Amino acid sequence: MRIAPDWQALSLHAARLCEKPLRELIAEDPARPCEFTVRVGALYANFSRQRYDREALVALFALAQAKQVPGAFDDLFAGVEVNRSEHRPALHTALRSNLSASEISRRAHQEALTARARMAALVAELEASDITDIVNVGIGGSDLGPRLACEALRDFSTGRFRLHFINNADAHQVAQLLRTLDRNKTAIILVSKTFGTQETLLNGRILCDWRGADERVYAVTANIEKAAAFGVSPERILPMWDWVGGRYSLWSSVGFALALAIGMDGFQAMLDGAAAMDAHVLEAQSEKNLALWHALSLIWNRNGLGLDSHAVIPYDPRLELLPDYLQQLFMESLGKSACNNGGAPGVATVPVLWGGVGTSCQHSFFQALHQGTDTVPVEFIGVVRPAHGYPDSHCAQLANLFAQAEALANGEDNFDTQRRYPGNRPSTMILLDELTPHSLGMLLAMYEHSVFALATIWGINAFDQWGVQLGKRLADGLLPALAGVADGVNDPVTRALLDEIGTRSS
Ligand code: F6P
Repeated sequence: MRIAPDWQALSLHAARLCEKPLRELIAEDPARPCEFTVRVGALYANFSRQRYDREALVALFALAQAKQVPGAFDDLFAGVEVNRSEHRPALHTALRSNLSASEISRRAHQEALTARARMAALVAELEASDITDIVNVGIGGSDLGPRLACEALRDFSTGRFRLHFINNADAHQVAQLLRTLDRNKTAIILVSKTFGTQETLLNGRILCDWRGADERVYAVTANIEKAAAFGVSPERILPMWDWVGGRYSLWSSVGFALALAIGMDGFQAMLDGAAAMDAHVLEAQSEKNLALWHALSLIWNRNGLGLDSHAVIPYDPRLELLPDYLQQLFMESLGKSACNNGGAPGVATVPVLWGGVGTSCQHSFFQALHQGTDTVPVEFIGVVRPAHGYPDSHCAQLANLFAQAEALANGEDNFDTQRRYPGNRPSTMILLDELTPHSLGMLLAMYEHSVFALATIWGINAFDQWGVQLGKRLADGLLPALAGVADGVNDPVTRALLDEIGTRSS
C-alpha cells in the first residue's frame, strides 16, 4: 500500500523502532517511566511501556496537529455537524458540561437539564412507591452503559431497588427473569433511541403483557410517538435526541436505571467526572492531553506496528463489563473502511477490541498474550484503593497487575524455547485512585474522546453505524419464512439451513 504523505514520518519511526526491545527503550531513557504519564484528577495513565520513543511521539503529536484534532474537538463541543453522513452534531458532552459558547450546545445543555429534572422526579416517585425491582429493556447503547455503570458502582447503590437488564432477542433471558419477579412490585424501563429495535420491542411486549397495567412502564426514547403508540403514557416517557449517539448516551435519561440504583447525587457525580474530563480535553496542551495520548498510542500500535488487536484488562471485577462497553464504543464508532469524503482511509482503522478481568484471565488467555505468535497491546486498568477491607487480597491483586505488565514488556530468556518469554509486548497502565461515580465518569469520557481523536485522524465518522443495517434488514425478510407464512428465500445456504431446521423444529 502506498503511504500517504501525512503518515510517512510515522512509518519511518516505526521502521526504525519495530525491532527495538522495550527494555532498551526504557534503559536508554530512564526518565520515561515518570514522564510518559498523564494525571487528570483521580485518573493516572502510564504510557512508558508503549514501543515509541520521544522522537516517534513528536511525530505522533504532529500527525494529530496535521489532522486538526484540536479544532475537531472545538467543533464537537460546539455542535458542528460532525456526524456528517446523518447531518447531525454529536452533543453528548452537552449532557454533562457546558463548555462551548455556541448557541446550539447551550440549547442542548438546557434540554439535558430539563430532562434530568424530569428524570429526578420519576426517580423520587419510584423511590416513594412499593416497587422493589426495575427491569431495563434495551440493547447496545441502551443497555451496555447503564449495565456497566450499575455493576461498577454497586458499592454506591442506595439499596432501594434490585436492577435487572434484558437485552437479547433470545427469550430464555426474559422467561427466566419473570419467574423471579412479582409483577405488582416491578417497574419496566423501555430504553430505545429509535423505539424501532426488534429485540427491545419483543422483550418490551413480553414484559408489558406480563405486567398488565401500564402505570409502572417507563420509556426513554427520541421517538416519543412510537413509545406512546406502544402504550407508554407521555408523562412516563423521558426524551433523548438525535444529537446523542446510542453508545454515547449513558449521560442522558438512558442512565435512568443507574440513577435508580445509585440515586441522583451519585448520577450527578458521574456527570461531574465526565465534565472534568471534557474540560481537560478541551484545555490541556496536546502533549498532556490524556485522551489524545491514549488515541495516539492506539495509532502507533495499529498503523505504526501493524498490530490488529487491542486487549482491555481491568484488574477489578466491578469493571468486568468494560471490555463489552468499549467494544461497542470503539468498534461501532471506528469499524469503518470509508472516510467522510467517501474515499478509503488509506490506513487500517479499528483493531479488534476484546478483553476480560484480571486476575481471572491470567488463568485462561494470558498464555497467548505471553507466548503466542501475535503481539497484542494490552490496556491494564487498576484501582488503587479498594472499597473492601481485605488488604491481603488487594495487595495480591495489584502485585498481579504490575507483574503481568512487567512480564509482557521484559520477557525472560531460557535455553528451552518452550519456557522462553519473548517480551517486548506493549501495554498502557491506567490507575484510578478509587472506583467512584466521579472516576468512572472521567474514565468513560476519556474513552469517548479517544475515539473521537482516532476518528478525526483516520478521517471517518465516529457517530454512524451503517454496517449494522444489512443484517437487520435480512433478518426482517426471513421472519415470514421462519413463521411458515411465506418463503421468498433466495440465498441457497440460508435455504438449506431453513430446510434443516424445518425437519427438526416440531
Ligand atoms: O444496531 C446498532 C444500534 O443501532 C446501536 O447503535 C444502538 O445502541 C442499538 O442498536 C440500540 O438502538 P436503540 O437505542 O435505537 O434501540
